[in-house]
Amino acid sequence: MAGSETRITLRAGEPSDAKTCGRICYEAFGAIAREHNFPPDFPSAEAAAELMTMLLSHPRFFSVVAESGGDLVSSNFLDERSTIAGLGPITVDPKVQNRRVGRALMQAALERAAERRHPGVRLLQAAYHTRSLALYTTLAFQPRESIVCMQGAPIRAQLAGHHVRRAVATDLEVCNRVCVAVHGHDRGGELLDAITQGTALVVEYDNRVTGYATDLAFFAHAVGETNGDLMALIGAAQAFGGPGVLVPVRNVALFQWCLARGLRVVQVMTLMTIGLYNEPAGAYLPSVLY
Ligand SMILES: CC(C)(COP(=O)(O)OP(=O)(O)OC[C@H]1O[C@@H](n2cnc3c(N)ncnc32)[C@H](O)[C@@H]1OP(=O)(O)O)[C@@H](O)C(=O)NCCC(=O)NCCS
Repeated sequence: MAGSETRITLRAGEPSDAKTCGRICYEAFGAIAREHNFPPDFPSAEAAAELMTMLLSHPRFFSVVAESGGDLVSSNFLDERSTIAGLGPITVDPKVQNRRVGRALMQAALERAAERRHPGVRLLQAAYHTRSLALYTTLAFQPRESIVCMQGAPIRAQLAGHHVRRAVATDLEVCNRVCVAVHGHDRGGELLDAITQGTALVVEYDNRVTGYATDLAFFAHAVGETNGDLMALIGAAQAFGGPGVLVPVRNVALFQWCLARGLRVVQVMTLMTIGLYNEPAGAYLPSVLY
């Protein structure tokens, strides 16, 4: 049962909130993970604060924070870089959880998405977390599919006929075309950031770009015309960033390929969406954030 409602005021987040938001993010995810005997999503409050600094200073992320009695108690974000907005991470100080703070910040982010006329919103939910699953469902999010977060030693496999290389700015258009073919819309905003940061890879087959990854990481996505494209990208990764790479469970062939190469399942997550959603027409790895 929900506790009594906490009185809060909402405002836009500021870069100077990063340290407090980072501590809350670390503690909120850590508490829920510990409760279920899962590893924490963030290794330290400092690592969470680093992410918060990026989110709070990026011009294409909307942020909202809640204050209660003068203390910052929660933050939430909307990634506005591409057609479909990405929601989260949302975290509420464990001291005031289950008192409708999370609901208020989810509603604020969804109102923002509606104002900005995003045709759809996406998020990834930790499947073991019954509260967030219930909250998002009451907010009208639809579950789309189960995703496994996988971690392990780099596979270092090359796939016959596939060539993986670093992505450059001139790859953007062709990569967006692959994404449109798979998802019905591009994720060019996220990809451009990843190319600029030097983490993006493309895969070529038959002298054509047939897929890309913004990175092979929890905070990164990938699309390919075929599973072979994704295997080549995963096989080229030097490491799997954060808690791990995200693989759709129903893509059994890819999931089996990863398991056979030693990757282990860390946790199961649920891809949830509101508004426009197209069944993927190709291979893909979602991202928690970008
Ligand atoms: C998830 C989180 C953001 C939710 O915020 P919150 O302030 O605790 O949640 P709220 O009180 O606003 O909403 C929870 C709702 O779920 C309901 N609920 C909780 N557990 C439930 C259950 N097991 N079954 C059904 N409903 C449940 C509550 O009754 C409440 O609904 P109500 O407003 O209709 O009463 C917060 O708990 C948190 O920070 N968790 C850790 C980090 C995290 O998991 N973030 C989300 C990543 S996907």
